[in-house]
Amino acid sequence: MDKLFFFITVAVLSVNCIAHNLSSDQEALVAFKTRIISDPNNILANKWLTNTSICNWIGVSCSTKWQRVTALDFSNFGFSGTIAPHIGNLTFLGYLNISSNNFTGIIPLELSHLRRLKEIDMGSNNFTGVVPSWLGTIPELQHIFLDNNSLSGSIPISLLHNKSKLQTLQLTDNFLNGNIPQEIRNLSTLEYLYLGSNMLTGSIPFGIFKMSSLRELHLTNNSLSGWLPNDICDGIPELTILSLSYNQLSGQIPSNIYNCRYLEVLSLSYNHFNGSIPSAIGSLNMLQELHLGSNNFIGGIPLEIGNLSNLEILSISGISQIGPIFIFNMSTLKVIQPVDNNLSGSLPVDIYLNLPKLVMLDISSNQITGGIPTTFGNLTKIQDLILYDNNLTGELPAELGNLHLVKFSVYRNGLSGSIPFSMFNLSTLEIMDVGGNYFSGHLPTTMGFSLPDLEVLYLGHNRLSGVIPSSITNASKLTDLSMGNNRLTGTIPNFGNLRLLQTFLIGGNNLTGDSSRFFSSLTNCKYLKLFEVSSNQISGVLPASIGNLSDSLQEFNAHGCNIAGAIPAEIGNLSSLNYLSLYRNQLTGFIPSTIGKLKSLQRIDISINKLEGYIPAELCQLSNLGDMYLSDNMLNGSIPDCLGELKSLRNVHLGFNKLESTIPLKLWILNDLLQLNLSHNSLSGNLPSEIGNLNVIVDIDFSWNQFSGNIPSSIGKFQSLASLSFAIDFKDQFLRLWET
Ligand SMILES: *[C@@H]1O[C@H](CO)[C@@H](O)[C@H](O)[C@H]1NC(C)=O
Ligand SMILES: *[C@@H]1O[C@H](CO)[C@@H](O)[C@H](O)[C@H]1NC(C)=O
Ligand SMILES: *[C@@H]1O[C@H](CO)[C@@H](O)[C@H](O)[C@H]1NC(C)=O
Ligand SMILES: *[C@@H]1O[C@H](CO)[C@@H](O)[C@H](O)[C@H]1NC(C)=O
Ligand SMILES: *[C@@H]1O[C@H](CO)[C@@H](O)[C@H](O)[C@H]1NC(C)=O
Ligand SMILES: *[C@@H]1O[C@H](CO)[C@@H](O)[C@H](O)[C@H]1NC(C)=O
Ligand SMILES: *[C@@H]1O[C@H](CO)[C@@H](O)[C@H](O)[C@H]1NC(C)=O
Ligand SMILES: *[C@@H]1O[C@H](CO)[C@@H](O)[C@H](O)[C@H]1NC(C)=O
Ligand SMILES: *[C@@H]1O[C@H](CO)[C@@H](O)[C@H](O)[C@H]1NC(C)=O
Ligand SMILES: *[C@@H]1O[C@H](CO)[C@@H](O)[C@H](O)[C@H]1NC(C)=O
Ligand SMILES: *[C@@H]1O[C@H](CO)[C@@H](O)[C@H](O)[C@H]1NC(C)=O
Ligand SMILES: *[C@@H]1O[C@H](CO)[C@@H](O)[C@H](O)[C@H]1NC(C)=O
Repeated sequence: MDKLFFFITVAVLSVNCIAHNLSSDQEALVAFKTRIISDPNNILANKWLTNTSICNWIGVSCSTKWQRVTALDFSNFGFSGTIAPHIGNLTFLGYLNISSNNFTGIIPLELSHLRRLKEIDMGSNNFTGVVPSWLGTIPELQHIFLDNNSLSGSIPISLLHNKSKLQTLQLTDNFLNGNIPQEIRNLSTLEYLYLGSNMLTGSIPFGIFKMSSLRELHLTNNSLSGWLPNDICDGIPELTILSLSYNQLSGQIPSNIYNCRYLEVLSLSYNHFNGSIPSAIGSLNMLQELHLGSNNFIGGIPLEIGNLSNLEILSISGISQIGPIFIFNMSTLKVIQPVDNNLSGSLPVDIYLNLPKLVMLDISSNQITGGIPTTFGNLTKIQDLILYDNNLTGELPAELGNLHLVKFSVYRNGLSGSIPFSMFNLSTLEIMDVGGNYFSGHLPTTMGFSLPDLEVLYLGHNRLSGVIPSSITNASKLTDLSMGNNRLTGTIPNFGNLRLLQTFLIGGNNLTGDSSRFFSSLTNCKYLKLFEVSSNQISGVLPASIGNLSDSLQEFNAHGCNIAGAIPAEIGNLSSLNYLSLYRNQLTGFIPSTIGKLKSLQRIDISINKLEGYIPAELCQLSNLGDMYLSDNMLNGSIPDCLGELKSLRNVHLGFNKLESTIPLKLWILNDLLQLNLSHNSLSGNLPSEIGNLNVIVDIDFSWNQFSGNIPSSIGKFQSLASLSFAIDFKDQFLRLWET
């Protein structure tokens, strides 16, 4: 490292001897321009005119005295490309800001020639390579921003010497690994240290807590371990932000935390801290955000926390003995998240008096009982009301419709009655999840007209009845729609208007409709991933246009829908499909050989139909197939030999068909098979001793075939067999075998 440092210093000094002037600055910027491969805002053509001085180019500043470029601010210009090394010739440059573009490649070494640089901001690009060690050689450098790139390697020690004037080191959101070097302490002027969202390991060097100039310490979201020193705050009295969440830190929270008396943000959640939460936190009266959740604390929240008169965010998920949280009447509180805290009792009626500024209330995953008080309609500032996984009962108060809710979830409670129509008038809503309750009644016919921002609507697993109002197709931002498992009737509206749909679940109702038109309309939904219409009455056929459904489609569920006709060959276009369920329909004709193109398929269930012809050998090309359910059809011919090559197979169901000839010997090399059902066919021949290779098999059914010979004794080796069934005439033999 020292050698490199020396080499760079020498290289820098030698370059400095070359004379530069405005025309070499111009050359540098022209070279910079040539490396820009994308300029969506037309800055190069319209704002960087070649017939004007570069000092008039937008983003370029020059000193009037020296006629040299002193500052470049190209932040947010929309540029893509690499950085020309010629920028290193701008030797008067003091400020360089190219943040929020799409620059790639490495940060060129030539930038080390910029001896006057005070601030460098290259954040939010896609630079690769390491954090340049030469940054430590630039004498006046005060602020380094390299956040949100793809930099790797460790934090260079050459940056961490005691001549440095660094005030800001911002390296968040990269791929840095290794420890935080002890030498960090040499940065005696550092005020802002951001190392969050990297892959740093090891413990936090205690020296950090002696850097008296430090104001903000951000180490969130790494893999740091070890504990905090007892005198944590003695050396950093000015600290305002201490952000350590999402690491593996352990030990207790030092009670001398009260010495950090300017602390505004204390974030320790998602670690392994233990012991009790020090009541001293209650004396940090500048505190605005307190995140303590998901640790191993014993005891509850100290009552002193109720004294924090500036607190806005209180995040305390997973702390068991939390006590009666609503004693908090912190009128400043905006966000409170007692998630997964074993809270019981009912929701407080007067919460709007105690917490009038509440913007977000998340009490999910507790055991709250009783109803939602109508006074929740007086929480006039609330945007996110998250109450899922509790035991709430009663009806939703219509007053909720007066709020400006953005996220609303009461998923999995015991709520009943109808969903107030006013809830469908909340034009601010983005997420509405009322699934898994006992809601009944019908949906308002105008429901989709005033939900312009709605992205997620879950109404599934309730008792809703009546029709699906076609107005829902006006909520054009919907990406996830679930209405499955209700009692909805009537025809299915034209969901093809909802072009952003990714998840679309309406199975388990009593909906009707023309299947051709329905499936064809969904071809407009280019992002569709999960689709479930099973157990409805959409008679008709599968149109060839299902081949034009989204490339991203992963699940296609249309079992129990009364669909007739053949499976169209075009199904083979659904290249991302991993789950195909069409069982219990009236399908006829052959299984199309194009099914072999569904390379991602893991499960196919087309049982209980009227399919005929051979089992296509192309099925053997599905190298991810685990579950093959073809039973209860009229398939004939033999079992394809090549199935034995499909190592991924686990559950094979071919029963109740008209299969004949012998079982291919190759099948017995599938030694991960769990279930094999070949019953009720016309298979014949001997069962070979190789059957004993199926060493994890759980269910075998060979009954009602025409096998001959003896049951091979190798069957005695089966370890996990739960059920075994052979043809009736084998039964006695089998029992004898088992007894021996
Ligand atoms: C700028 O410097 C170059 C050599 O580096 C020289 O040729 C040129 O004349 C100089 N221009 C001015 C305007 O000084
Ligand atoms: C520079 O060229 C542009 C066209 O490319 C022209 O519109 C503009 O007037 C010119 N400016 C000067 C100062 O010559
Ligand atoms: C760079 O520009 C962005 C956007 O204008 C700004 O937010 C950021 O503070 C600037 N960086 C520095 C170091 O001034
Ligand atoms: C500027 O820098 C480039 C690359 O670093 C170099 O090749 C070139 O000679 C320099 N030009 C001037 C005029 O200094
Ligand atoms: C960023 O640049 C790369 C290539 O340099 C390009 O593939 C990618 O699409 C660009 N991304 C954006 C968001 O412009
Ligand atoms: C990170 O950069 C990407 C573009 O490269 C941008 O879309 C994103 O908003 C940035 N994230 C943050 C946290 O700045
Ligand atoms: C950054 O570049 C890497 C490859 O160099 C690429 O995989 C990644 O998608 C890019 N990220 C962004 C946000 O453009
Ligand atoms: C910097 O560190 C060197 C070597 O450890 C030491 O001799 C020198 O006194 C330190 N300078 C300052 C200003 O702390
Ligand atoms: C940097 O810090 C380390 C450890 O604290 C120390 O040994 C070293 O002398 C310091 N070096 C410089 C150049 O400041
Ligand atoms: C609560 O809201 C209702 C309307 O929903 C309003 O009539 C009532 O005055 C409000 N109460 C208070 C104390 O603000
Ligand atoms: C909450 O509901 C669950 C499941 O419905 C039930 O097992 C549990 O006993 C209920 N808890 C309380 C406190 O009512
Ligand atoms: C669906 O409707 C039919 C008659 O329209 C009725 O017989 C059947 O029970 C209904 N099924 C369900 C699950 O509600």
